[in-house]
Amino acid sequence: MNLMKFNPLQKKIITTGDGSPSFFIDQLNETYHSKHGAITESDYVYVKKGFAHWLDQNKQKTPRIFEMGLGTGLNAYLSYVFALDHKISCEYVSIEKYPLSVEEVQSLKMKDTLPATEHHHFFDQLHEVAWGQTFSQSDFLFKKLEEDFFSMELDQRFDILFYDAFGYHAQSEMWQDKALQKCYDLLQPGGVWVSYCAKGSVRRSLEKTGFWVERLEGPPGKREMLRAIKQL
Ligand SMILES: C[S@@+](CC[C@H](N)C(=O)[O-])C[C@H]1O[C@@H](n2cnc3c(N)ncnc32)[C@H](O)[C@@H]1O
Repeated sequence: MNLMKFNPLQKKIITTGDGSPSFFIDQLNETYHSKHGAITESDYVYVKKGFAHWLDQNKQKTPRIFEMGLGTGLNAYLSYVFALDHKISCEYVSIEKYPLSVEEVQSLKMKDTLPATEHHHFFDQLHEVAWGQTFSQSDFLFKKLEEDFFSMELDQRFDILFYDAFGYHAQSEMWQDKALQKCYDLLQPGGVWVSYCAKGSVRRSLEKTGFWVERLEGPPGKREMLRAIKQL
C-alpha cells in the first residue's frame, strides 16, 4: 500500500473505548491507535511493557528511547509524564514520514483527554518544535525527525524501541525481516523492542533476527502483544 496517497481529508476523528480520540484512515482501513482505547493501549504497551519494564531491569540508568511513528505524539507525551513521575532523565527520538498538520493535531483535541494537565504544555511543545531540532524539558530530551524509517540513518543506539507502525494489513513491509533487522540494529545489546502486534510471522521474524521474544497479555481488546529483547 502506498501511503503517499493518504492526505488530511481522508482522516476521520473517532472516539476510542476509553474516551480518547484517534484518527481513522479510510483508505487503509486503519486507525492510529486501538479502537478499544488510544491512551489505554499506548500506556499499557509502550509505557508499562516497554519503558517501565526496561527501568525495572536497569535502575539508575538514563534510557534512550526510539519511536517509529510519532503520529499524534501520544506515546511521547505519556513517556514524558512517566519519566517525570519516576524522576529519571530520558532521551526520546521519534521519526515520522507523514507528519500531521497543526490543524489535524488541533482538530483531534487529544489534550482534552490526556492525563496530568500540569504537563500538557509538553504536548504542545512536542508538536511546535521544528523537525530535526532537539528540545529539553525537565531532563527529557526530545527530538523528532521527518524521515522514512527505511532510509533514515542514525549513529545512535537505543535502549527501548517503540514500534508503532500501522498494522500488517495496511503496511506489511513494516513487519517483515528488513524492517525488523533495522530495529535490531538500532538497539543496544539488552535493548527492548515493544509493539502492540502479536502476529506469529512477526514473532518468528524477530526470533530469526536474533531477538529473544516474549508474548505478553495484550491491552484491552487484544489477546497478546510482543516484546523482544536484543540479547547481550
Ligand atoms: C499507528 S500510527 C502511530 C501512532 C503514534 N505513535 C501516536 O502515538 O499517535 C503509525 C505512524 O507511523 C507513521 N509511519 C508510517 N510509515 C512510516 C515510515 N516508513 N517511516 C516513518 N514513519 C512512518 C505514520 O505516518 C503514523 O504516524
